[in-house]
Amino acid sequence: GALAAMLEQAPASLAELNAIIRSSGPLVPGATQAVVGEGPEHADIIFVGEQPGDEEDIQGRPFVGPAGRLLDRAMAEAGIDRKDVYLTNAVKHFKFEQRGKRRIHAKPTAGEVSHYRWWLMRELELIEPKLVVALGGTAVLALTGKQVPITRARGPAKLLEDFPGYITVHPSYLLRLPDEDAKRTAYTAFVDDMRRIRDMGR
Ligand code: URA
Repeated sequence: GALAAMLEQAPASLAELNAIIRSSGPLVPGATQAVVGEGPEHADIIFVGEQPGDEEDIQGRPFVGPAGRLLDRAMAEAGIDRKDVYLTNAVKHFKFEQRGKRRIHAKPTAGEVSHYRWWLMRELELIEPKLVVALGGTAVLALTGKQVPITRARGPAKLLEDFPGYITVHPSYLLRLPDEDAKRTAYTAFVDDMRRIRDMGR
């Protein structure tokens, strides 16, 4: 079919790649739609998250829910314009557990992450960024194939052969911190990461 024909050649543009991703079904059933990356074709900085959340699944756009809003705020404080960077996810479909009316995010397995890795590598090849930012452990796993403790690896890091990398926490980690003091401290450190990312991505 058309999908098989497209897969015989590496996609020549992000639009073509994203069309292929959209036409592929979720690995785990439940998602409304694929959520592909968003941003300029040749962005200097690419941010890799984990997987779309509930709001992303509904809107079909990455980082539009609570974690995305926090990321936007931290980027803006560091002088990064969201419109200038490419935002994507390791896994392109929302996976969840239904609890009553709520759909609770379920972490993708290493097998699921590796299933989606091909798309992510094609995105990187097409964008050729100056800097690849891993937001949290799932992104690091997707980029390197390894599980790495984020607190120790945080900062500039060798994620891939071809592009400089940077590891920081996932914004949803900040949202989950139990007390306000810890949240404030962690948010300040996150904005500091965004400043270094801005400078490395110039
Ligand atoms: N968390 C992610 O990792 N990605 C999104 O797009 C939204 C929330």
